[in-house]
Amino acid sequence: MDLPSALPPIERVLFTAEEIDARICEIAGRISADFAGRELKLVSVLKGSVFFLTALSRRITVPLKVDFLAISHFTNRPGAPGVVRIAKDLDDAIEGEHVLLVEDIVDTGFTTRYLMQNLAGRGPASLGICTLLDRTSRRIAPIPINYSCFEIPDRFVVGWGLDYKQLYRNLDCIAVIRPE
Ligand code: IMP
Ligand code: MG
Repeated sequence: MDLPSALPPIERVLFTAEEIDARICEIAGRISADFAGRELKLVSVLKGSVFFLTALSRRITVPLKVDFLAISHFTNRPGAPGVVRIAKDLDDAIEGEHVLLVEDIVDTGFTTRYLMQNLAGRGPASLGICTLLDRTSRRIAPIPINYSCFEIPDRFVVGWGLDYKQLYRNLDCIAVIRPE
């Protein structure tokens, strides 16, 4: 059996491991200042956002909890916005808590908007978004993003939790891959 290469066919590295670490430190500093004196809950979406969440959480200095959900997408036509469904819900309630939804990437915004509407309905004390990558050029559903590490161009990227056919999530840089 031929195993796929551990490295993706990289066309261009957008952000190196060092640049990403430095930027996450900066954003975690802002979050720590904004939530000083309060307790925070980071909610992340399996599987992509977990890589960013673990790095971010280690740099945040306020007391924090983490919880996870998983979603599945249904779509009739390729490229068309699909219906999002929660496949695994959070373990605990978020009522009365300060919650940040941690995303790997906000692209069209459909997934994030669905999740924000869903979470808002559970009565958190506050609810915000922190994303590693933001591709504003493809945004269809406008959503306010509180913390964003990097804006990226309209190219498919992998690394830091982002996959191509479930591979390359563990790449420690963010890279554009060559189309097949
Ligand atoms: P949205 O609903 O269009 O914002 O889609 C967001 C989801 O699409 C992300 O959570 C990713 O799973 C996936 N996605 C969007 N762009 C990329 C990319 O460049 N690389 C890998 N996954 C992506
Ligand atoms: Mg994905």
